[in-house]
Amino acid sequence: MALWEKAAVVTIWAKVATQADAIGAESLERLFSSYPQTKTYFPHFDLSQGSAQLRGHGSKVMNAIGEAVKNIDDIRGTLAKLSELHAYILRVDPVNFKLLSHCILCSIAARYPTEFTPEVHAAWDKFLSSVSFVLTEKYR
Ligand code: HEM
Repeated sequence: MALWEKAAVVTIWAKVATQADAIGAESLERLFSSYPQTKTYFPHFDLSQGSAQLRGHGSKVMNAIGEAVKNIDDIRGTLAKLSELHAYILRVDPVNFKLLSHCILCSIAARYPTEFTPEVHAAWDKFLSSVSFVLTEKYR
């Protein structure tokens, strides 16, 4: 990622971080309602809107994204354990990462419409693609 793109990611993250749990839960709600097939990975969860499990998981996901933002030059090293979990244990089909990334983008855009310029959109899209790439690369 170019320097300006990293800067754009870091700047918006400073805002997102203050509401990370709510944005994480909203992203999962969007994922499960727009792409219900993704619910098959969570048979053990109560996926009703606002459930404690949904909020707890949203918080974990956003926390991992926050770590990736903080270590934007070493996303691979930062998410190595999570990559093994998703590939070897959870076996999440990589297509689902695009869906979740899209839902995260929508949640950020809805909350920060002024800040979510086309440049910020593109930078976050690239960043979330890098996160997804790292989380799915162990499949091969
Ligand atoms: C677990 C992050 C994408 C399914 C987790 C955990 C984190 C995480 C932090 C908890 C790990 C732990 O407890 O040690 C992420 C990030 C993603 C992503 C950052 C992409 C941006 C996905 C996708 C799916 C998925 C696309 C499937 C649709 C799961 C499942 C668990 C899990 C089933 C285990 C839940 C449980 O039983 O507690 N993920 N994840 N993840 N993730 Fe992901």
